[in-house]
Amino acid sequence: MKNIAVLTSGGDAPGMNAAVRAVVRTGISKGLNVFGVRRGFSGLICGDFEKMNESSVSDIIQRGGTILQTARSEEFRTEEGQCKAANMIRIFEIDGLVVIGGEGSFAGAMGLSKKGIMCIGVPGTIDNDLAYTDFSIGFDTAVNNVLDAINKIRDTSSSHERVSIIEVMGRSSGDIALYSGLAGGAEGIIVPEMEFKLENICKLLVERKNKGKLHSIIILAEGVGDSKQLEKQIMESVNIEVRATILGYTQRGGNTTAFDRILASRLGERAVELLTGDKGGRVVGIKNNAIIDMEIGEALSMKKEFRRELYELAAKLQ
Ligand code: F6P
Repeated sequence: MKNIAVLTSGGDAPGMNAAVRAVVRTGISKGLNVFGVRRGFSGLICGDFEKMNESSVSDIIQRGGTILQTARSEEFRTEEGQCKAANMIRIFEIDGLVVIGGEGSFAGAMGLSKKGIMCIGVPGTIDNDLAYTDFSIGFDTAVNNVLDAINKIRDTSSSHERVSIIEVMGRSSGDIALYSGLAGGAEGIIVPEMEFKLENICKLLVERKNKGKLHSIIILAEGVGDSKQLEKQIMESVNIEVRATILGYTQRGGNTTAFDRILASRLGERAVELLTGDKGGRVVGIKNNAIIDMEIGEALSMKKEFRRELYELAAKLQ
């Protein structure tokens, strides 16, 4: 193994830069040439490679986003696109590829592995929706970004004695809502994994108001539905003022937390070690605080288990 490459793909996640840094510096320390691929699989298809050195990754461990840029490549989803990418890897004599991204990116890495390319997947997505790993890079930072917003919204919410619905990202996963709701002491957490009844929420809000509570915070995962719609439904059902805030992309940016930086550094290192140990077609992850690796297909076939006990704890502590 002489040359390896690294790319970031799909939605960006804070900590991707820390992972790129770990891959580049671990690779160089093992005597490898390390190339960065710009714009994910799109850049792979057109051979957009850049040779990296130690200083290419200076001053990025803390930064959100990805210095390599990212993309959701439609062309790469096709057989033709994957063949073009595999050819480009051969033309540039890349012996191993590290793919940092989520489920879709791992499916791409699996496609390349089937074409004989040595690939390792590193989980980078704020959604935390990959079943084989306890955490993915970016999730902790996103949760902390939501907590920051909860604190600010609570101030104005209690001044006006309002209910605030805070809509968070996560695609079809409720993890960002669950963890930020528990950590932020939210009065309600609505996630796709658990059934929710409008009547129950309304009852809770009326009871709180009658007890003289100044505000209530409800965290709504985007996978459940539209927060503006819920705002309207609650106001129509009970005589309480409600405001919805969609946090959107603020969750994905900003300084990366220590947890994500350390996770990214450990996962990036393991990815390179696997390649130099002649192992491809695998993903790395974290289980009970130990770094693990697993065959890509197996990881993608696992079904994510929702942390129901955390959901129940949040309800108990309301
Ligand atoms: O997968 C990460 C994520 O931020 C999801 O939580 C969200 O649904 C989606 O990406 C938004 O995608 P885009 O960046 O394409 O708008």
